[in-house]
Amino acid sequence: MSTEHELLVVGGTGMLRPAVHDLLDSGARVVLVARRPERAAAGAPDRGRLVPVAADWKDPQRLGEAVREAVVGRPVTEALLWVHTPHDEGVHRTLDPLLSPDATVVQLWGSAGADPRNSRPLPDQYSPPRSYRSVVLGFADTARGTRWLTDREISDGALRALRDTAPEQIVGRVEPWSDHP
Ligand SMILES: NC(=O)c1ccc[n+]([C@@H]2O[C@H](COP(=O)([O-])OP(=O)(O)OC[C@H]3O[C@@H](n4cnc5c(N)ncnc54)[C@H](OP(=O)(O)O)[C@@H]3O)[C@@H](O)[C@H]2O)c1
Repeated sequence: MSTEHELLVVGGTGMLRPAVHDLLDSGARVVLVARRPERAAAGAPDRGRLVPVAADWKDPQRLGEAVREAVVGRPVTEALLWVHTPHDEGVHRTLDPLLSPDATVVQLWGSAGADPRNSRPLPDQYSPPRSYRSVVLGFADTARGTRWLTDREISDGALRALRDTAPEQIVGRVEPWSDHP
């Protein structure tokens, strides 16, 4: 990955923090959006390429403006999105003009309480040559049953989706959903 690489992560200070650190380690410039984006810096391999953007996904217009200021004209070629619904819809709209024509957008879907595959249909901002991939967070098996995924497992799934062109991906398993922890 070259240092020219421009990558956006929304909601990257929680379960996606390991992914953010790996991306920084690989040379990516990571524009990171959260209300307290500085939390991503803890343990980061190179904070120099971390561009913290303080914004709230409940105000997508201001979020878009803040990202626009941070990218200073460089189109975002890859995005990892963790945004609680229904706020993701406004985030998709506000990011649309900031993404490159061939951008790859990975959106994570997770819920401890309901089958995440019941989420809404794919957003329409991402017709080819853009690429949209949804990553469903499932659960993992243990000797005694199942457990939720770790941050590392979720981050690995998110990073894999940046390379894997399959439009729908699952981390862990979701079938049968009744097995969930
Ligand atoms: N399937 C599984 O195994 C599994 C495992 C873990 C989690 N999950 C799912 O993921 C969820 C984890 O919850 P979580 O959302 O707390 O995830 P998280 O990844 O731990 O943290 C949320 C991220 O979003 C940011 N954020 C939160 N509210 C925001 C806002 N209004 N505007 C901008 N950024 C915001 C947070 O930063 P700031 O607070 O600084 O804004 C943080 O970066 C669980 O409900 C569960 O369903 C599933």
